[in-house]
Amino acid sequence: MSFEFLHSSQNDSTNSAIQADPSAVPARLEADVLVVFFESDGLRGPIVEIDEATGGLLQELYKQGEITGKRYECVPLYAPQGLACKQLLVVGIGPHNEVDAGVLYEASGTAARRLSGKPRATVGFLADGNWSNEQLEQAVAGTTMGVSGEDLYRSEKHQTPFEKTIWLQAPVEVVQRGHVIGDGVKLARRLVNMPPDDLYPETFAEEAATIAGRVGLEIEIWDQARLERERCGALLAVARGSTRSPRIVLLHYRGPGCNDTDPEVAFVGKGVTFDSGGLSLKTSEGMLAMKCDMAGAAAALGAIASIAALKIPIHVVAAVGLVENMTGGNAYKLGDVVTARSGTTIEIHNTDAEGRVVLADVLDVVADLKPGCIIDAATLTGACMVALGRDIAGVFTNNQSSCDVLKDAARSVGERVWQLPMDKDFDSQISSNVADIKNVGDGRLGGAITAAKLLERFVRDIPWTHVDIAGPAFADKPRPSIAGGGTGSMVRSFIEFAKRIASKK
Ligand code: BES
Ligand code: MN
Ligand code: ZN
Repeated sequence: MSFEFLHSSQNDSTNSAIQADPSAVPARLEADVLVVFFESDGLRGPIVEIDEATGGLLQELYKQGEITGKRYECVPLYAPQGLACKQLLVVGIGPHNEVDAGVLYEASGTAARRLSGKPRATVGFLADGNWSNEQLEQAVAGTTMGVSGEDLYRSEKHQTPFEKTIWLQAPVEVVQRGHVIGDGVKLARRLVNMPPDDLYPETFAEEAATIAGRVGLEIEIWDQARLERERCGALLAVARGSTRSPRIVLLHYRGPGCNDTDPEVAFVGKGVTFDSGGLSLKTSEGMLAMKCDMAGAAAALGAIASIAALKIPIHVVAAVGLVENMTGGNAYKLGDVVTARSGTTIEIHNTDAEGRVVLADVLDVVADLKPGCIIDAATLTGACMVALGRDIAGVFTNNQSSCDVLKDAARSVGERVWQLPMDKDFDSQISSNVADIKNVGDGRLGGAITAAKLLERFVRDIPWTHVDIAGPAFADKPRPSIAGGGTGSMVRSFIEFAKRIASKK
């Protein structure tokens, strides 16, 4: 049986078949490579069976320190005696007590990325029957994600997906779900990696429409005229410096039994397809990676696509605000006062603080739908990277219990987040002399918080959590488990969040 859900667009050839074989005998698998996961405190689980088939080879190498089981160590054993595969790849996953879904995602991603360096017909991955379904799902997602990277525009590809991926000793439904989760991550990464002259508001909306058609989502695309009728004055102001016209895309997924309900969850994404900074122009260095400034929108789309393909019983909407932030003759200016859809006036002090201005209108649109909660993802501030570094997302909330569900969901899939305060005294920092608010704080200190404070003004009293993914959304260079570029940050957390909200009903 083979599963493919999000087959993403024409220029993505990175789809390969994935299969599950619950009752396979690993030693007899005729594959190019068999991947096994090895704990640093010794042989355990399915490894024991592999060790026996090889006449104690693994035990011996462990004793000699050739295999340590340290996290993400990869030891290839060619033509292993007693096994039908051509290569056994032993991947370390660290101490038994610390193996979790996040570790397994990284470990299988590392193996998949490494092996995708040349064409392979069949690659097997050996599951451990002691893993929970959630752990197995994330391990499978890692293999789906790990075989693709930054090859979209290369004539000679650096990575080739396996013709066939087989998960051994794994239940079919769980492997299928893991693959769908990995596909959502892959979709988000591909969109982030597309150059800004190919992915701009209109083409992002087209990509969303293609995906919506494939997984059966309802889609609304608001063009310039509709945005004007809706008085989205904040988003439209940011868009004015560009020749590309802006869009808001709304996607609705109504799961089984959710036809007449208000949405339980709204995912909102910042979709600045390129951020030059506008008239508050960035430096070349600061601008280079700014195709990634739509990673929040990509995460919202990737997540809702997977949620739909997984048929989670929940009503979810995703809303993304798509603009290009440029310096054209009509660009919005410092000192301008723009009127957001909500009626709130915003004085512009820095055109590079555009994400919050765009999201002001998207959040207001979403609030009209009366969702049970709003979760937004945005590459919002460099300040958040100063606070938390490259790998940890900042979270901010007006409702602790809803935020806690998201934090737990993120932890359980191995995405790192850290909550920052939203104390009331920060509010005065965005007060303006001439308008209701201004779009930056007083000075740079606490910049991630003042940005979140502006967003908070537009969510009314709906439970809301903002995730600043400026750090984790984009990797400047490759890591063992993932190529450089888009990482698909927050896709897995958002899917897990939806699962948890659905199961609490
Ligand atoms: N898109 C940027 C934030 C960003 C920076 C994301 C680096 C990813 C990597 C955002 O629009 C921005 O420019 N923010 C400014 C805000 C400032 C002008 C108040 C920033 O962080 O410098
Ligand atoms: Mn900016
Ligand atoms: Zn930006």
